[in-house]
Amino acid sequence: MEFIPNTEPERQYWFMDRLRSMIAEEAQRAGRDLTYCIRTFGCQMNAKDSEKLAGVLENIGYKEADSENADFVIYNTCTVRENANTRVYGRIGYLGTLKAKNPFMKIALCGCMMQEAHEVEKVKKSYRFVDIVFGTHNIFKLAELIYEKMNSENKQLIDIWEGTSEIVEDLPSSRKFDFKAGINITYGCDNFCTYCIVPYVRGRERSRKPEDIVKEAKELAAKGVIEVMLLGQNVNSYGKGLEEHCSFAELLKKVCEVEGIKRVRFMTPHPKDFSDEVIEVMKNEPKICAHVHLPVQSGSSAILKRMNRHYAKEQYLTLVEKIKRELPGVALTTDIIVGFPGETEEDFLDTVDVVRKCGFDSAFTFIYSKRTGTPAASYPDEVPEDVVKDRFERLLAVCREESEKAAERLTGKTAEVLVEGLDEGKSGMLTGRLSNNLLVHFEGCENLIGKILKVKLDECKGFYYLGSLLSE
Ligand code: 5AD
Ligand code: SF4
Repeated sequence: MEFIPNTEPERQYWFMDRLRSMIAEEAQRAGRDLTYCIRTFGCQMNAKDSEKLAGVLENIGYKEADSENADFVIYNTCTVRENANTRVYGRIGYLGTLKAKNPFMKIALCGCMMQEAHEVEKVKKSYRFVDIVFGTHNIFKLAELIYEKMNSENKQLIDIWEGTSEIVEDLPSSRKFDFKAGINITYGCDNFCTYCIVPYVRGRERSRKPEDIVKEAKELAAKGVIEVMLLGQNVNSYGKGLEEHCSFAELLKKVCEVEGIKRVRFMTPHPKDFSDEVIEVMKNEPKICAHVHLPVQSGSSAILKRMNRHYAKEQYLTLVEKIKRELPGVALTTDIIVGFPGETEEDFLDTVDVVRKCGFDSAFTFIYSKRTGTPAASYPDEVPEDVVKDRFERLLAVCREESEKAAERLTGKTAEVLVEGLDEGKSGMLTGRLSNNLLVHFEGCENLIGKILKVKLDECKGFYYLGSLLSE
């Protein structure tokens, strides 16, 4: 028996080495290259995880396909709201029909939904054709799982971990963009907002070492990445449990020092932990983008208390005032939940008031979704569906008005823009992103993608601008 390393990432590279020849053999039998397709549901964390999964699949010989009609399909699932789950089940059946026609096809399900026992039960019972099921804590193990599955025919392989304290570094990754990338800084969440499933499916908060984060930023810069997004469920509580103290503000400074990185973003901070130190670093560090995504969730202090958010309406407003005063021109965006149990019309009007007072550049509005296992799932006084719908529509209208007002502020001005790609549907047009996260469409050719250029913002179209290129 050959020696299999028991340290990571060496162990996974060992499996990848073996799999490369096994997949090459399969490709020979198929008489073509084998392909993969990863569908990502949910947030930036999942998008980042999917890049890691793609890295492994490419390493062992799969080529990317643009549809699920592929030889290895992974659904990286989300469970933050019920509709995320529904969307997944709506599509797994279709995968089954594809598999019936393709003897080489393998199907894997992973991500947040798979951390819920009742969902795994459902897959076991109703979707036997799924080959591999794994969760959020062991995505680094994909190579090992594929190897195991390929050596044990006709069995559904299920490997779900309750939690982990382990962070595996230096695995391959296949990035979606050449010029921008996400970097995980924390995993998991310790906040336990009462509506939220995340702490249960992503586990306890763990911070990556600052030197590993900086190393990744340097490696990315060396490969041509100019914008990085620091990712975590609660980025500004970064640093808990590290051997050597490093706050989020200090980490931001370290990342800004990396040569070649021109823009730094972060997602998501929690209002309760947004320190003056972070505001100070944002003020002094031109690389940090002029955008703060600061989820408020509700404008009612009573609801915020029941949500376990650790701030009241006035505290949030004071923080926003401070951010706007200290960082003029910063774009402020938010998340809002409508219809949390017990929400009265008065509570709702407090939310509208916060939206008016903050003038959010954009707001993601969600209808409260009951998640099994969270404290709020057993709260009484559910808000009737028609009332929630009515409030949701009213809130949407207010948010839209405010974001249109906010966007107008820059009309006629010139801004630096990172060109992200072709404007879909319009030939000869490019799409770029401003430091404040807004998009602008302007004429230009493809070879400008990945560059930072000056663009005049001619016309505001509500959520985006039409502009003209000033320099190349
Ligand atoms: N119902 C509705 N929205 C939710 N979010 C998180 N959990 C729920 C839930 N149970 C929203 C929050 C969070 C965003 C990522 O998703 O607004 O900030
Ligand atoms: Fe992201 Fe949360 Fe959805 Fe998981 S459950 S994908 S962490 S939003």
